[in-house]
Amino acid sequence: MGCNKPFRLLFWVSLVLCLECFAKGFTPADNYLIDCGSPTNTTVGLRVFMADNLASKLLSAPENVLGSTSKALTSSGDSPIYQTARIFTGVSKYTFSISQPGRHWIRLYFYPFVYDKYNMSLAKFDVSTKDHALLSSFSVQAPLVKEFSVNVTTNTLVITFTPSQNSFAFINALEVVSVPDQLIPDTTKSFKSSDEFHGLMWQALETVARVNMGGPTVTFDNDTLWRTWVPDQRFLVEKNLAVSVSNIRAVKYVDGGSTQDIAPNYVYGTCTRMNSLNDPTSNFNVTWEFDVDPGFQYLLRFHFCDIVSTALNQLYFNLYVDSSMVLQDFDLSTIMMNVLAAATYMDYVTESATSSKLRVSIGPANMNNAYPNAILNGLEIMKMNNSDGSLTGSGIVNTSSSSSKRNVGAIVGVSVGAAFGVLLAGVLFMFCRKRRRLAQRRQSKTWMPFSINGGTSHTMGSKYSNGTTASLNSNASYRIPFLAVQEATNNFDESWVIGIGGFGKVYKGELNDGTKVAVKRGNPRSQQGLAEFQTEIEMLSQFRHRHLVSLIGYCDEKNEMILVYEYMENGTLKSHLYGSGNPSLSWKQRLEICIGAARGLHYLHTGYAKAVIHRDVKSANILLDENLMAKVADFGLSKTGPEIDQTHVSTAVKGSFGYLDPEYFRRQQLTEKSDVYSFGVVLFEVLCARPVIDPTLPREMVNLAEWAMKWQKKGHLEQIIDTNLAGNIRPDSLRKFGETAEKCLADFGVDRPSMGDVLWNLEYALQLQEAVVQGDPEDNSTNMIGELSPQINNFSQLDPTVSSAQFESVDDLSGVSMSKVFSQLVKSEGR
Ligand SMILES: *[C@@H]1O[C@H](CO)[C@@H](O)[C@H](O)[C@H]1NC(C)=O
Ligand SMILES: *[C@@H]1O[C@H](CO)[C@@H](O)[C@H](O)[C@H]1NC(C)=O
Ligand SMILES: *[C@@H]1O[C@H](CO)[C@@H](O)[C@H](O)[C@H]1NC(C)=O
Ligand SMILES: *[C@@H]1O[C@H](CO)[C@@H](O)[C@H](O)[C@H]1NC(C)=O
Ligand SMILES: *[C@@H]1O[C@H](CO)[C@@H](O)[C@H](O)[C@H]1NC(C)=O
Ligand SMILES: *[C@@H]1O[C@H](CO)[C@@H](O)[C@H](O)[C@H]1NC(C)=O
Ligand SMILES: *[C@@H]1O[C@H](CO)[C@@H](O)[C@H](O)[C@H]1NC(C)=O
Repeated sequence: MGCNKPFRLLFWVSLVLCLECFAKGFTPADNYLIDCGSPTNTTVGLRVFMADNLASKLLSAPENVLGSTSKALTSSGDSPIYQTARIFTGVSKYTFSISQPGRHWIRLYFYPFVYDKYNMSLAKFDVSTKDHALLSSFSVQAPLVKEFSVNVTTNTLVITFTPSQNSFAFINALEVVSVPDQLIPDTTKSFKSSDEFHGLMWQALETVARVNMGGPTVTFDNDTLWRTWVPDQRFLVEKNLAVSVSNIRAVKYVDGGSTQDIAPNYVYGTCTRMNSLNDPTSNFNVTWEFDVDPGFQYLLRFHFCDIVSTALNQLYFNLYVDSSMVLQDFDLSTIMMNVLAAATYMDYVTESATSSKLRVSIGPANMNNAYPNAILNGLEIMKMNNSDGSLTGSGIVNTSSSSSKRNVGAIVGVSVGAAFGVLLAGVLFMFCRKRRRLAQRRQSKTWMPFSINGGTSHTMGSKYSNGTTASLNSNASYRIPFLAVQEATNNFDESWVIGIGGFGKVYKGELNDGTKVAVKRGNPRSQQGLAEFQTEIEMLSQFRHRHLVSLIGYCDEKNEMILVYEYMENGTLKSHLYGSGNPSLSWKQRLEICIGAARGLHYLHTGYAKAVIHRDVKSANILLDENLMAKVADFGLSKTGPEIDQTHVSTAVKGSFGYLDPEYFRRQQLTEKSDVYSFGVVLFEVLCARPVIDPTLPREMVNLAEWAMKWQKKGHLEQIIDTNLAGNIRPDSLRKFGETAEKCLADFGVDRPSMGDVLWNLEYALQLQEAVVQGDPEDNSTNMIGELSPQINNFSQLDPTVSSAQFESVDDLSGVSMSKVFSQLVKSEGR
């Protein structure tokens, strides 16, 4: 049949394409492999390095360049690309036309030998691209490959070799090859949203170490992106504390985890673990140490794959970088959706290194019931460019003029110079920071478009408009004079402190009109800088809702960063559930609190054209007023600052794990459904009145979400509820509540209900408790709306964009305008 033919052709074509992609993995759009100085093409593994000669259109060099072709006396094991080199005695460029913009590898191969009068061990030179200095005053004594990756955004990439004065440059081989976009996305893949780093797309990266823990060298022909992974032995600080494990066949690549391009199974299939097999009381760290350049930040990529456990939830461990705890009581099974030996990875961006050594350690979790063990399968350390775009020097080197300035042989001069450079860089850094802060501060004067007309009782504008700050215009109605804040807090009386966070202290206070307030005073050196301060102001001033904590004002006089909120008499929801001796809440009270918080979140998700994602939903961020009405607090803060709240570091790191949407972790795709997941955990917390992570419990109980889901699936949730509630919950209400929480915790976001659905179902659970529902509650649980009382039916029919405004009759949407600062918090379609 004629019509069959094209179809079959298509089938074959796609089959062939498919086989192709299986055989080769990623196919780079740009793939320049140059065997410098060689008259013939050279085959290395599966790839062919092209001959380059002086006529090559890639190379442009002035008259004085020696187009050298040379034979090296390489040993038989060395790659044939090392046998020739090109020597440059003047500034020379390789120009590559780029067919597809994006990140590209630049790999430079050096193998110094002696040719004619040129002893390449004595060469000294710089290598740079238009935007980045890659190497400066570089010299090389032993065979070496330098690997960089840069995001090329134009259609050419020029690599420039600049010899130092009285010296020359050389290169044996050169690669410019496309990197898959997914390898280094703009945002790091991190387990905690607060640890994310944005802006990797602008970073030039230099590979400092690429290590295969517990295994042999993985050569480039076993890596889809032609990377080489070296063994970890020489980096181990105490070799006797570590054991190598290998089980390559166990490795599983699962959806949402790692891929062959991110690291090959030869890497995931081996690991280094604690040498703790014979001693169940082992308590030590396995530590690796790497050389780094002070003054630079590093991107660390940790590769994990649990090839040591025989079952799920056996391995819990901690991970440290230098002395900071990066992962605590970390359980790969939970993160990887209960697939054993699923390959995954995590990124971490360090602070600017202060020492020339970087230490990575793994150690046992501090949990009673876990056998002490810890693993690491692979580690990549990539240096990030400094603020000048440079990967070399101390950050102030002007690379284009460096060649003529530097002198050979002045070793003392160089090290003094370097020390001075660091100092100068420090001064410059402080200066720039100050400037930036000033700039932002200046901006903040013009940028706050507050237009909430003095309707709400919280608006301070009229009251203070003739106040001490002369420059105020009437729009800045939220600004409060410092004096007023001082007065309200009894001059920041230490005994009035009600909380301490990374941002600073929180004081109780009372304004002179008698309004009780909570005053958050930013620590000037806190990591949660000015941007977050502004975000919070903007966010809170625009999104007003009775179930969101309201901002009364702020103060930015005298470099202060002070936020003044309405005072929430009854503190956090958490403190009413466990651990603080507050009287136990009734089931009805708990349901009403959950409903209130759900309304607040529903409003955030739907109250404006674009959803706002809270990202840090937990019982400690749900506050209760004097009538136990719930209000969601602290939204937006979790986004930008790496450590919003120091208390997160010591206690809530666990909490964050306990609430974290596993899909968000796997896919790095932020949606409202991540909040829904966290809210589901809060629901179980409310029901069971216990911490979401409790390491003191037997292992299967440690993680509340898992534990509660287990009982919910068995249909016996009543077995684990708060004993104070026993006998006081109607079974139908409990069933509805359990089902709602269960749906919130669905593995995939698409399977989770919207916050609106959650709200309706909680309302229904409340009605079931109060027994006002007619009809058969045994009916299915997904579509309860039809059976609900008229009041709730009305609610469901409201247009989502106006629902809260009408329903709550609060000035929720007046004058809302979305700003750039804010847009970070907004769901973006592309991610
Ligand atoms: C080297 O390979 C390129 C394509 O990869 C080809 O165009 C060129 O003719 C080859 N040169 C020699 C000398 O074989
Ligand atoms: C080349 O320079 C290196 C480093 O200074 C030196 O060790 C080596 O002996 C020199 N080789 C020759 C042939 O001069
Ligand atoms: C490279 O930079 C451009 C912006 O100039 C960005 O759109 C793109 O996503 C970046 N690519 C990668 C792989 O980071
Ligand atoms: C790499 O590939 C070669 C053959 O291509 C194979 O012999 C070797 O075992 C592989 N494994 C590693 C870890 O390099
Ligand atoms: C492991 O290293 C971290 C960070 O240096 C340290 O805080 C911790 O006490 C160490 N643990 C053990 C058991 O030595
Ligand atoms: C790296 O350089 C880019 C410009 O190329 C710059 O935007 C970025 O901030 C630099 N990175 C750091 C950590 O300063
Ligand atoms: C670096 O030096 C060159 C030449 O000396 C000069 O033209 C250029 O403006 C300098 N760049 C910077 C950033 O100072």
